[in-house]
Amino acid sequence: MIAIYPGSFDPITLGHLDIIERGSRLFEQIIVAVLSNPSKHPLFSVEKRLEQIRYSTSHLTNVEVDSFSGLTVEYAKLRQATVLLRGLRVLSDFEKELQMSHTNQTLWAGVETVFLATTKEYSFLSSSIVKEIAKFGGNVSHLVPENVARDIALY
Ligand code: PNS
Repeated sequence: MIAIYPGSFDPITLGHLDIIERGSRLFEQIIVAVLSNPSKHPLFSVEKRLEQIRYSTSHLTNVEVDSFSGLTVEYAKLRQATVLLRGLRVLSDFEKELQMSHTNQTLWAGVETVFLATTKEYSFLSSSIVKEIAKFGGNVSHLVPENVARDIALY
């Protein structure tokens, strides 16, 4: 079974990496799919994010990294993936995630969203938190893969 792990990943965090690693043990293939959203102003370009994720998942042989635009379910169909993988950190994630999952089901009944509970060490962690710390020059090396911490230090 092929699973898509869609997201913004601006940037990838250790919480995302935890989901990718655990997902890669559950599914034949994981496609990490970076949403290319022209209306957002990301910290890192899509190309840079692809490079960051590829580097930090290079030890996982069944993980592919790609970008997409438009609807996630359309991308899933294109890639013949029937699972959308998402991480759940805290209760407040649940409402948005349930809404997305139900919406995606109305768009394509052939897709299932599978949630993995994020490891408790990372339950507070988000890309926004990383950007907030980075903005004020704080240390993020315990929150993101090494290569991403290096990229952030260059900013
Ligand atoms: O990392 P994020 O920002 O929480 O990821 C959100 C994402 C990319 C999974 C979601 O915004 C998405 O699927 N966007 C693509 C547009 C889409 O398919 N929308 C319908 C589902 S509500």
